[in-house]
Amino acid sequence: MKKLFLIALTLVINNIVFSQENIAIIPKPVSVVMHNGNFVIDAKTTVLFDVYNKELANAIQFFSSSIKEISGIELRKNLHQEKSISFQIKQIPNIGNEGYQLKITSTNITITANSKAGIIYAIQSILQLLPGVRTNAILKLPCVVIEDYPRFEWRGMHLDVSRHFFSPEIIKEYINLMARYKMNIFHWHLVDDQGWRIEIKKYPKLTSVGAWRVDYTNIVWGNRPQAKPNDDATYGGYYTQEQIKEIVAYAAQRNITIVPEIEMPGHVASAIAAYPELSCSQKFQLPLTGGNYTNISSNYCAGNDSVFVFLQNVLTEVMQLFPSKYIHVGGDEVDKTPWKNCIKCQNRIKKEGLKNEEELQSYFMKRIEKFIISKNRKMIGWDEILEGGLAPEATVMSWRGETGGIEAAKQKHNVVMTPGAPCYFDHYQTGPEGEPLAIGGMNTLKNVYDYEPIPKELNNENQKYVLGAQANLWTEFITTAEHVEYMVLPRMLALSEVLWSKKDAKDWIDFNKRLQPSFKYFDQKGFHYNKGNYNVTIKPVSKNNQLVVTLSSEIPGATIVYTTNGTDPNIGSNIYTNPITISTSLTLKAAVVVNNKVMNIKPAEQKFVIHKAVGKNVTYQYPISKYYTADGNNSLTDGITGTFAVNKYWHGINGNDLIATIDLTEIKSITNISINCLQKYADWIFLPRSVLFEVSENGVNYTTVGKDVNNISSSIKEPTIKTFSATFHQENVRYIRVSAYNIKECPKGHPGEGKPAWLFADEIMVN
Ligand code: ACM
Ligand code: ZN
Repeated sequence: MKKLFLIALTLVINNIVFSQENIAIIPKPVSVVMHNGNFVIDAKTTVLFDVYNKELANAIQFFSSSIKEISGIELRKNLHQEKSISFQIKQIPNIGNEGYQLKITSTNITITANSKAGIIYAIQSILQLLPGVRTNAILKLPCVVIEDYPRFEWRGMHLDVSRHFFSPEIIKEYINLMARYKMNIFHWHLVDDQGWRIEIKKYPKLTSVGAWRVDYTNIVWGNRPQAKPNDDATYGGYYTQEQIKEIVAYAAQRNITIVPEIEMPGHVASAIAAYPELSCSQKFQLPLTGGNYTNISSNYCAGNDSVFVFLQNVLTEVMQLFPSKYIHVGGDEVDKTPWKNCIKCQNRIKKEGLKNEEELQSYFMKRIEKFIISKNRKMIGWDEILEGGLAPEATVMSWRGETGGIEAAKQKHNVVMTPGAPCYFDHYQTGPEGEPLAIGGMNTLKNVYDYEPIPKELNNENQKYVLGAQANLWTEFITTAEHVEYMVLPRMLALSEVLWSKKDAKDWIDFNKRLQPSFKYFDQKGFHYNKGNYNVTIKPVSKNNQLVVTLSSEIPGATIVYTTNGTDPNIGSNIYTNPITISTSLTLKAAVVVNNKVMNIKPAEQKFVIHKAVGKNVTYQYPISKYYTADGNNSLTDGITGTFAVNKYWHGINGNDLIATIDLTEIKSITNISINCLQKYADWIFLPRSVLFEVSENGVNYTTVGKDVNNISSSIKEPTIKTFSATFHQENVRYIRVSAYNIKECPKGHPGEGKPAWLFADEIMVN
């Protein structure tokens, strides 16, 4: 009671409150100071601005039409009267090119910025404080002073329109959503194997042939049959140059730069379907229907000069349409086999003194970069463009984790971070039960919110090469606007805050509060979005001779219920409060309860098998990879056995043996030791050659109790889990040493032939 009175008093006395309670802007502004009172936009409100400033006039037009859309009010222009919203571009220190100052009093709004970009972002902040759709509500804005500017200059969203074609209207909706949350780069993936989507006047077959395929949308991507010569190619579409110009202008009005991606030298089966002479084999092929690449050429021939003439002509038309400084040229996932078998490509390698096909790709990219630079633009490509040597001024988009980005920044090249985790928005965001089928993975809203684009590996000097980050939306499994919305909402909002707001202002709970008005906006607009990730994370910690399990959820303040008897938890089940100690084999199930309702379609579930080493410390002779730490140091003694999901449970080691020693902390009598290992050919993971089992009483002198030799070939492609074990007469021991011997190098015929092989192991069971 007393406290409330005091706050009220403060309000009266100072007429100022330092609080962001009523300001639910995403991304969170740098500085917000609220005052008492409101400004009401009505039919008498006038906008004041310099009509001779075309950029400013363009921004005001956006503002006026937005206000009209939500209220019907036609704002007056440049009538000097009491109630005004004035816009001014002038020199303001410390807020950069995209920053703005917004001051709302009960009689005036003043918006100032160094450029139109800042004016647009002030407008977006205002629009977030108003209703999202046409209502009869009064347009009331709180009195506030905001100063705001972004942390990163590249705040990107990508959309793959090759795997599925999305109409210009959908593209505009995507751009509009990006703009509302102050994202500023739209990476438009216009070219890929399954469709060429941009009209090129000089090469009409790129779209008349390359943009159309046989419609197998009803069959899952990977299972689609290839087209047959007389099938009707009815599925697809492309953007005319006129449509592109309109979309570029639409984006520019909202301060969004469109970076077009014209893939090369791989992922171009669509171009080859149109012009077979562009490939090494020069064979006719039909446009791909999905993921069946049997006998399909998807690379340009790198030894054929006319390919470069073609690409320069294409890029010339592209650069006429897109004013973007950056032109994306792909460069990812080039299968070099056709180049190995092509006389022209091999001649190029000889003539240019190149070492191998990696250097041939590097030659390709460098030649294209030279052309792009000659047109005063910059080349950007996926991180594979590092292989064989980076082109002199190239910018790298790091997608296979952050490694490529770190390497490029160390080489003093600009970098955009877009690692699969958490930036691939085609991955699941919750579930997967109840979710639309996705390509795989799991990038939750909180994973995105917690992302830090500057890797720890970069020193102060090299950090400045990280331009920002981007989310990618590949569309093999996404065919509708509703599904596009669902995959980006609300994850894009989390990314926007990562990229715009101050690093130390991050606050997950506060972000969730500020999400609520956006959810209301999505509801009003009829947008599809994910309402929350209700999954429960079950995390075992094996230490101090105990197995202890913690349960957590991303939902702020959620109640977690659990069972240990195999039944599904309900609202009457045990409520989780403290870590749970597990001392017998059991299955733990857990779920989130909100408003007396279990929110999960399927509870989280984990089986624990208790054996004599559970909770015991494990030490390694060679360190395990930082990428495969599972649940931490003692993951091999946590009572959980690994499954085929490689990023969970397993400890991975690259090119080395896994030599693990367990201290049982007291003498125990045992008769069996086993260890599970994984083979996953596609992920370069192979079973060990053999596993040696040793025991010791004192940790110094070891006795061999068994050796299990692998009998499964390293060429088996089916994922396989093998248990290696030793059974022996009873031994009384304290120490156990398990040595799994890595095959060291990926075998002959494997894509990674000769490169270090991964060894994956989980649970060492002792009984
Ligand atoms: C990519 O995801 N292949 C860039
Ligand atoms: Zn070739």
